[in-house]
Amino acid sequence: MQQLDRVGVVGCGLMGAGIAEVAARAGAEVVVVEADEAAAKAGRARVERSLATAVARKKLADDEATAVLGRIQVGPDMDALADRQLVVEAVPEVETIKVETFRRLDDVVDAPDAVLASNTSSIPIMKLAMATRRPEQVVGLHFFNPVPVLPLVELVTSLLTGDETARRAEGFATDVLDKRVIRSQDRAGFIVNALLIPYLLSAIRMMESGFATAEDIDTGMVQGCAHPMGPLALADLIGLDTTMAVAESLYEEFKEPLYAAPPLLSRMVDAGLLGRKAGRGFYDYAR
Ligand code: 3HC
Repeated sequence: MQQLDRVGVVGCGLMGAGIAEVAARAGAEVVVVEADEAAAKAGRARVERSLATAVARKKLADDEATAVLGRIQVGPDMDALADRQLVVEAVPEVETIKVETFRRLDDVVDAPDAVLASNTSSIPIMKLAMATRRPEQVVGLHFFNPVPVLPLVELVTSLLTGDETARRAEGFATDVLDKRVIRSQDRAGFIVNALLIPYLLSAIRMMESGFATAEDIDTGMVQGCAHPMGPLALADLIGLDTTMAVAESLYEEFKEPLYAAPPLLSRMVDAGLLGRKAGRGFYDYAR
């Protein structure tokens, strides 16, 4: 099986930066594309901060962190992805933006057998595959935040994903990145978010109704169920905009009330209170 060591990533936000980091830590040369120079600079800084954390926690030596950074190139030019064997899309969780990204990737990526993967949290892979002329090469590779810490990747195959594409994508996640892969059919939310998002929305409804405080809800799940963090802190970590976008995809797919975003979540997103990345969500984060 051909090794996928020329990797591209589209988007250098929370997830794209993490994916670029783990690929470069595994030895791949990674080209990351962002919307413009300012976003590219912010994305590179995000990778640098995460590598600094890894060094501070003694997961990585200083010189290794420098070498990892040297394998990551971040810029605004989509054409830089032309020679990639694998591209992972990690742009915002908005269907129109993702569809347009796949349309562009189809034009730009030269290798006829390149794997075009999406890190979408919830959008059916088929919707992205059909934006290309090579739907058999489109697959879901869904990572979890923080990507350098969490070992899981969901592999999502659409009705049209080729077996070879799925094998190569899985091999990349397991053999190159040393991640644990679980397989899901192409249904909105896949396995993890189909279970996680209703839980987060229930916690928001519980707080919104005055039933309990944010702190008590989170403490309940941390101390009572040994979760690493409570649901409201986790929603802040994921980003409330992403949490809402995933809820909307799930609701659109299944039309079940448990996936409907509560009004408080919508208002917080409208207000820009998006969680950790915005400095404020259910909690305040010192800058
Ligand atoms: N690089 C390498 N290792 C790192 C690191 C980094 N940048 N940052 C932290 N670590 C390591 C630490 O060294 C520690 O390792 P150890 O257990 O071997 O000592 C481990 O990660 C955990 O770190 P800490 O115990 O210090 O805890 P923190 O408070 O710093 O981090 C957390 C906590 C990892 C975020 C933990 O609370 C957690 O796992 N929370 C749950 C996160 C979660 O559920 N994510 C999934 C979100 S859903 C998603 O992403 C899907 C999307 O589609 C919505």
